Amino acid sequence: MQKFENFLLEHLPKVPSIHPHYEDAINDMLRAGGKRFRPALLLGVVGAYNSLLLEGARHAALAIEMLHTYSLIHDDLPAMDNAALRRGHPTLHVSYDEVTAILVGDALNTYAFEILSNAPFSDKTRVKLIRELAVNGGLGGMVLGQAIDCYFENKPLSLENIKFLHTNKTAKLIAASLKMGAIIAGEEKLEDTIYDFGLKLGLLFQIQDDILDVTQTDDEAGKTTNNDDNKNSFVTILGLSKAMKEANDLADELTQMMESFDEKLYKELSPLLTNYINRHKG
Ligand code: IPE
Ligand code: IPE
Ligand code: MG
Ligand code: MG
Ligand code: MG
Repeated sequence: MQKFENFLLEHLPKVPSIHPHYEDAINDMLRAGGKRFRPALLLGVVGAYNSLLLEGARHAALAIEMLHTYSLIHDDLPAMDNAALRRGHPTLHVSYDEVTAILVGDALNTYAFEILSNAPFSDKTRVKLIRELAVNGGLGGMVLGQAIDCYFENKPLSLENIKFLHTNKTAKLIAASLKMGAIIAGEEKLEDTIYDFGLKLGLLFQIQDDILDVTQTDDEAGKTTNNDDNKNSFVTILGLSKAMKEANDLADELTQMMESFDEKLYKELSPLLTNYINRHKG
């Protein structure tokens, strides 16, 4: 992933202008780091089948990271989760102001699609990638999840509806990351199965995030924690031990599913996935 990190740093948006901090604000949260989980998933799938495509695939991984970073910047806004810390740094509305944070989010969202439109693939592949990111990151995916998350604050949902919320908010973008890898690799038969695996993986990722919200300090997480009291988080609704059980059950299921991957995919993805699948176990 060091190569992806270097690629990202080399491809940070450059927008010199008369604005005193616009370019810095665009880049602050990208530079600040993060786990780069979604890029690692995409690149893992591509690397399993054709490492010659990795260079091009970094463009698509970058696009996903742009869209994901935008979602975090908006997620932290006072009108949403009102969080002051992200990726170990003050959030943009704290460092600058709310207008800047809103506009940086807008800019990174659209820039993601600009990157995909210029990525070094055939037109057909580019359109498929753009559609996948739009469908999963947009109005019927991540944004829908965020809308439900915020609307139902202080209004407890059923477990089924909580899963619907978190599948949209988080799992779809994670599933899309894997599927976009399959699209780039030309592994059409893998697209649906890896997407379904990704939905479960993404749901687990969010349950773990909900667990970390109550088990980690701001410093440990690098972001504002203990912030889910009024949310339909798995921990708020189920309590910590049932949320842990839910996570353990999903982790077991995913471990089994992973074992049915073909040899190349298993070899490439299992080290990364095993780490993430077990990250709530401390
Ligand atoms: C945080 O995502 C938001 C969720 C979907 C849980 P990450 O945990 O991937 O955040 P970064 O990218 O590492 O900062
Ligand atoms: C946000 O979920 C998921 C996004 C779509 C950004 P959270 O609100 O739980 O994410 P954190 O805990 O602030 O990173
Ligand atoms: Mg949120
Ligand atoms: Mg949040
Ligand atoms: Mg959270």
